[in-house]
Amino acid sequence: MMTIPRLIGMTLLTIVTVYGTLWFLPKKEITYMPDDQLRAYALSHGLAPVPKTYHEMLKVTDNPENRLSPAKIALGKKLYFDTILSRDKTISCQNCHLLEEGGDDNLPTAIGFHGLANPKHLNSPTVLNAALAKRQFWDGRAKDVEEQAGGPIQAPFEMNMTPDLAVKRVAAVPEYQEAFRKVFGGEGNESVTFANIRKAIGAYERTLLTRSAYDRFLEGDNNAIGAAAKRGLNLFIQKGCKGCHTGMSVGGQSLQQFPLRRALGDIFKTEPFPFPNTGGFLGKEGRRIFRVPILRNITKTAPYFHNGAVKELKEAIRIMSKYQIGEEFNEKQISDVEAFFKTLEGEIVPYNLNLTPGANLEKINLRGSDLSRRDLHEINLKNANLQNCDFFGTNLSGANLTGADVAGANFTSADLSFANLSFVDLSHTDLIETKLEGVNLEHALWRGGRVCGQGSFGKCL
Ligand code: HEC
Ligand code: HEC
Repeated sequence: MMTIPRLIGMTLLTIVTVYGTLWFLPKKEITYMPDDQLRAYALSHGLAPVPKTYHEMLKVTDNPENRLSPAKIALGKKLYFDTILSRDKTISCQNCHLLEEGGDDNLPTAIGFHGLANPKHLNSPTVLNAALAKRQFWDGRAKDVEEQAGGPIQAPFEMNMTPDLAVKRVAAVPEYQEAFRKVFGGEGNESVTFANIRKAIGAYERTLLTRSAYDRFLEGDNNAIGAAAKRGLNLFIQKGCKGCHTGMSVGGQSLQQFPLRRALGDIFKTEPFPFPNTGGFLGKEGRRIFRVPILRNITKTAPYFHNGAVKELKEAIRIMSKYQIGEEFNEKQISDVEAFFKTLEGEIVPYNLNLTPGANLEKINLRGSDLSRRDLHEINLKNANLQNCDFFGTNLSGANLTGADVAGANFTSADLSFANLSFVDLSHTDLIETKLEGVNLEHALWRGGRVCGQGSFGKCL
């Protein structure tokens, strides 16, 4: 029979031997891949560049339950910056998610209504690229950005509103009334609902994607990022950071435990984290499970971790290497990973600027957009949704609008010469002072509209 003290002794000895052996085992060496191989590896393992064009962006972020359109995006943008969504009219989303500062507030914890701090001392995550995440919030409790947007408006320590009051305030503004009608339809104020406020804000957030040197590297430009960044990307991929921080957003795709691996010394620590857990937040169901943070723009979103306890990015990288992959990085490895993180610092893609002459925007949804006085000659808008669009004074000569839906669109003073309008339904559309020389109206439908002014039609029909 083994005595209790002997049993304890044996157990301790085993633990010390196992940990000791693991400690002295050679670390997994990696082979740094040459550029083309590194890119191919990254692309085939879930990393991807952010799209350049509106059309490509739709394929990535459009939501079947909240279809994007430039008018909806513009409405969401207005709401994002509007302080009337907070009880004392001083706070907007932008207060805590500064778009020009990496999409967060640079504070350890968020400060909202009447200077109140987040009760769990939670750090504001970035809104940039958040739409690409599978879940929202530190504990992943919201499904998408549309659902998420209702949270801060109602949180007593953020904007402190009720849905009814938010709707009442928005509905009282004539420009909002009109914009909601244009985007969501309905009569009067019917479409100003809390759900539609959330949808519009969500639509805007879906366009808040950033592109950086990293994207250009993934697209084939070997000179876009330097040697240290390439070593950092090699480490990030091969040492397993990418296992959790993955996808186009480099994070946001899953919920994971932190810290995952604890060293012997940690068993005797009372803090569950390698930093003071001010606020006492323990993640999903108190099980230290967190939505993996998005690492795009990480160099601009200090301080780090759920409660903003760590100021330095290098320290965050060290903690991650030690506790998530079980291999503490040395100084050189840490600075290489930091150099890679630098290449994730990007600019919001101006998707709306792709409305340029000659652009291919087949099937695009531009419903309700203000496209007045633009130069859009030879643009391809085949089968596009152009309902209620304003093309006043716009140059659409040579444009292809075959099969486009233009119900309610305004073409006054637009130039449609040599444009292709075959199969376009122009019923009840006024073409006043519209240039129509050489326009192709084969199979176009037009009843009830008025055609006045220049072009081959001359006077009012
Ligand atoms: C008082 C500061 C504050 C305001 C105002 C605020 N937020 Fe936040 N936001 C936070 C904090 C803190 C979190 C994290 C909360 C949590 O995880 O429980 C967060 C989380 C988010 C997330 C989740 C990001 C992710 O990756 O999980 C999004 C998206 C977001 N906010 C968008 C918005 C929008 C849109 C508005 C305006 C309607 C807004 N926020 C207003 C502080 C704020
Ligand atoms: C097992 C999953 C997992 C692995 C592997 C992992 N991480 Fe993390 N990472 C997380 C989680 C979860 C958090 C959030 C923890 C928290 O805030 O409490 C996080 C946070 C971070 C942060 C801070 C983000 C912020 O916005 O505050 C950085 C930086 C980071 N990780 C880098 C890395 C690096 C570098 C590696 C590889 C050495 C790595 N991670 C490996 C899951 C992981």
